[in-house]
Amino acid sequence: MNVNNVEMVMSAVSAAQYPTDGKPEIALVGRSNVGKSSLTNTLIQRKNFARTSSQPGKTQTLNFYDVENQLYFVDVPGYGYAKVSKKQREAFGNMIEEYITSRKQLRGVISLVDARHDPSEDDVAMYEWLHYYNIPILVVATKSDKISKSKLNKYENNIKKQLGFDSSASDFLFFSSETKYGRDSVWEWITAHM
Ligand code: GTP
Ligand code: MG
Repeated sequence: MNVNNVEMVMSAVSAAQYPTDGKPEIALVGRSNVGKSSLTNTLIQRKNFARTSSQPGKTQTLNFYDVENQLYFVDVPGYGYAKVSKKQREAFGNMIEEYITSRKQLRGVISLVDARHDPSEDDVAMYEWLHYYNIPILVVATKSDKISKSKLNKYENNIKKQLGFDSSASDFLFFSSETKYGRDSVWEWITAHM
């Protein structure tokens, strides 16, 4: 998709604040610093629209981005950030759970993992949880510019194995916001799920 118009319409902490116009939604989840904002910026062809973080864990609300008046990207707070309190972490957990389990407009979730590393326990838990709720999942392995092309296969197999990846219910792509590798494929997945 060629994106000319994008607007942050809402920072929501509860269901009462979600947009009410019924457009399809694609949510982005992943631990703090994995590259959610960078993916958003790459998809919408803006340098720094969704603020990339010098301060991990900064996003603490569900941010709804209206894209071309056709769909919403929903940027979900990064999980697994050590410096938030247990209370805060629980509050985030409840906010995300409420959104994922109750939102009719939610068409799919892009779950970001770092291409270079084993998925974290939180990554695995998130994948299992989304899968349990039958949400279409695209696992995007970010920062793939940091690994050599000849090793992509090996890394992909490892990530899938650790996640317990179910290829009948989810998809997998490598991505890089540095080189834009995978941008078109991510868009294809999104439009196929709208
Ligand atoms: P939170 O908002 O804190 O949850 O973080 P986030 O998931 O939105 O991560 P963000 O997009 O802010 O990126 C974190 C850091 O990783 C930044 O310094 C980015 O420049 C870097 N980064 C993100 N994607 C890539 C990528 O594909 N390749 C490389 N090399 N660096 C990346
Ligand atoms: Mg962010």
